[in-house]
Amino acid sequence: MIHRINETPKILEVKDLSVHYFTSRGAVIAANSVNFYLRQGEIMGLVGESGCGKTTVAMAILQMVQSPGKITHGEIWVDGEELNSLSERELRQLRWRKLALVPQGAMNSLNPVLKIKEQMGDAILAHERQLGRATLKQRILQLLDDVGLPARVYEMFPHELSGGMKQRVCIAMAIALNPPVIIADEPTSALDVVVQRVVAQTLLDVKKRLGVSMLMIGHDMGLQAQMVDRVAVMYAGNLVEVGPVEAIFEEPLHPYTQLLIESIPSIDERKPLKVTEGLTHDLRNPPPGCIFQFRCPYVTDECRAGRPPLEEIAPDHFVACFKVKSARLA
Ligand SMILES: Nc1ncnc2c1ncn2[C@@H]1O[C@H](COP(=O)(O)OP(=O)(O)OP(=O)(O)O)[C@@H](O)[C@H]1O
Ligand SMILES: [Mg+2]
Repeated sequence: MIHRINETPKILEVKDLSVHYFTSRGAVIAANSVNFYLRQGEIMGLVGESGCGKTTVAMAILQMVQSPGKITHGEIWVDGEELNSLSERELRQLRWRKLALVPQGAMNSLNPVLKIKEQMGDAILAHERQLGRATLKQRILQLLDDVGLPARVYEMFPHELSGGMKQRVCIAMAIALNPPVIIADEPTSALDVVVQRVVAQTLLDVKKRLGVSMLMIGHDMGLQAQMVDRVAVMYAGNLVEVGPVEAIFEEPLHPYTQLLIESIPSIDERKPLKVTEGLTHDLRNPPPGCIFQFRCPYVTDECRAGRPPLEEIAPDHFVACFKVKSARLA
């Protein structure tokens, strides 16, 4: 495989991020020293099974981790600015404008008693108070058009829209202030397969037209393969592999990534389903050593003793695994 050095600037950098939820039964380590970046204009997928910490990372980037959660360590850099040190007022200014979220279950986050024009208008006016009514209307209609929705949606209530349409309204709201970075948390789950494709295509169109960078959380590996430029694989609060999409799908290196890829159903081969069990340990009590040791077929004493760091083994390709590292060195 040919590796090219990518010089595109990084628009988002997550450095050594840890998030704990402080429960009465101990601290849940939902993100542990997470490191990754997003380059300008790219889509990065964040994948991993339910409960591995994807939403936690998204909320931490936005500085919106809910109590009892807390960022215990790390820095978030967006467009040259570090967010952990900003006040709540400064963060309010920055959200939507620099960093917008399409939240998990976004379509249910729409206010049922407000027309689409009202909720979109409120979101825009919160940042651009002096906007005139006619300009505001034009702007909303343009945004609806940007996500492929007809103008009549402007006057409609959320309950009059299908799931896919509501999801597209949420995408329209995310792009309303032209942010350089959008985080979309499972934007297509809970939709049927055809609608999933439409919503995915809407995101791709938006990305192409606006040149926005995207972090796309999801667990549909097939959809990820078609949409993203790079993939970050998370397991039990830790990133285990981050790499270009072709490398991840053609030559996954981390044993967990291999398991994820193998479990994509294939019509041609009809091979027996490989069972991927759930997390094998309590997130309050991670084992010393590699986070994946209980499920890893290649585990050694070295893996039980120390945690393998996420290391760059090729340009833009990072893996946290002793076995991979020693194979590369051999
Ligand atoms: N408020 C909370 N209190 C305690 N633990 C929490 C809280 N919120 C999340 N967690 C725990 O943190 C871990 C990560 O949760 P998170 O929602 O980030 O996972 P996720 O990868 O987004 O999962 P899903 O794919 O189901 O959306 C989980 O083990 C979860 O139980
Ligand atoms: Mg989630």
